[in-house]
Amino acid sequence: MAHSVTEDQAAAYHRDGFVRIPEIIDKEDAARYAKAALAARDRVSDLPADPAFTHVMQLWKHDETLRELTLSPVVAAAATALAGVPLRLYHDHLLIKEPHNGAATEFHQDQPYWPHLGSRHSLSAWIALVDVPVSRGCMSFIPGTHRLDDLHPQDLRDADNLMRVFPHLRWEPRVTVPLRAGDCTFHHSLTAHTASPNLTDDPRIAHVVVYMDADTRYDPRPRPAAGPLPEPDGTTAGTVFPDDDFPRLP
Ligand code: SIN
Ligand code: NI
Repeated sequence: MAHSVTEDQAAAYHRDGFVRIPEIIDKEDAARYAKAALAARDRVSDLPADPAFTHVMQLWKHDETLRELTLSPVVAAAATALAGVPLRLYHDHLLIKEPHNGAATEFHQDQPYWPHLGSRHSLSAWIALVDVPVSRGCMSFIPGTHRLDDLHPQDLRDADNLMRVFPHLRWEPRVTVPLRAGDCTFHHSLTAHTASPNLTDDPRIAHVVVYMDADTRYDPRPRPAAGPLPEPDGTTAGTVFPDDDFPRLP
């Protein structure tokens, strides 16, 4: 059952800050989850309008089918093997780029948005539920940027924001990673990434599971948000995130 990462995959992740894992789930499951994803999107009526993607959060709490994927011990075991520390779930979200959405998700790092203190390692699994060629909005990464620890929250809608903060990144090579349905990438929370617009007639459906160091403490200081994020009860400031809402995995 466990999809363990190979030594080469782990080495690539530690060198580059991201790695592609083919067939983390099988194609039949990807198709089943894609159907559940579209149904979940259609059930939620008050979604924030965002040209880059339709964003549905915390499926593990309100969708029986996608809960399986978010809590998958196989995906979590691979994440733990890459992180090298015990993990808990921070949150999950569906990111659906609607057909011909005309908007990229601009370059950013994830970590600066998060209310986390003392995290040793956090990372995301970006799981393709449909084929995601470049033309449907796949991810690109700048290798090595997971070593940039000078944190600045970046504006997801501003194509030049990250490059103004770190001008040398304008000249760094980017790696674009198209995925087949069922493949995933893992990216470190500091790795700079972007996703291209969807130019096709079909939705781009990605399910993203965000894992955090299980010992991370809650830092309630206000910070610019990329969108709504789950926050523990304010009384828990400075303590580890509660297991009920942020379960330990796998
Ligand atoms: C996207 O899929 O459009 C962006 C994903 C991310 O920022 O992690
Ligand atoms: Ni991101």
